[in-house]
Amino acid sequence: MIALIWAEDQNGLIGKQGQLPWHLPADMHRFKTLTTGHHVVMGRKTFMGFKRPLPHRTNWVLSQQSDLALPAGVQQLTDLAALKDLAAKNPDELIFVIGGAVVFQAVLPIADYLYRTRINARFDGDTWMPAIDYSQWQLVTKQVGTVDDKNRYPYEFDDFRRR
Ligand SMILES: NC(=O)c1ccc[n+]([C@@H]2O[C@H](COP(=O)([O-])OP(=O)(O)OC[C@H]3O[C@@H](n4cnc5c(N)ncnc54)[C@H](OP(=O)(O)O)[C@@H]3O)[C@@H](O)[C@H]2O)c1
Repeated sequence: MIALIWAEDQNGLIGKQGQLPWHLPADMHRFKTLTTGHHVVMGRKTFMGFKRPLPHRTNWVLSQQSDLALPAGVQQLTDLAALKDLAAKNPDELIFVIGGAVVFQAVLPIADYLYRTRINARFDGDTWMPAIDYSQWQLVTKQVGTVDDKNRYPYEFDDFRRR
């Protein structure tokens, strides 16, 4: 099973100059809680933003480059078929696809679950979530986040499964 997990602002913005446009520790916490112990799959550009593998997760980087140098512990998937193989070989696993936009666009048609953080504010940036037809998705849980000194924007966590 494949899940997409991401955070977007009210315009669907997800990235700025290779990084997240905001600082929202509650979202980082949710991301860590959900993905720890699982396979995480990311685009080469998103991985370049991290620079090192995410700890306590099996890290996979999607890239078509044949001479891509990756640090120890990070494995490459060269195309969508390789991701489908990974999912087929791990039928009891939830594989988290963690971005960015190009990867979300490619994987959306074969995703089973969506874990969306919606930040109800507007930021500047350069990368947006591809359009999603939510009529194909059933909202399973919705949790409104707590605004405090460290999490200064209203936000909510919405989990969907494919209808
Ligand atoms: N808000 C969020 O939740 C969130 C999550 C993740 C990322 N982001 C942000 O998104 C931005 C990066 O996104 P992006 O769209 O520019 O790049 P990206 O999706 O991270 O990476 C794109 C690269 O991934 C590889 N790739 C993508 N699809 C592939 C496929 N089907 N087969 C093989 N390789 C494939 C290609 O690498 P090669 O060119 O090497 O072939 C492609 O150039 C950053 O700003 C990041 O911070 C935000």
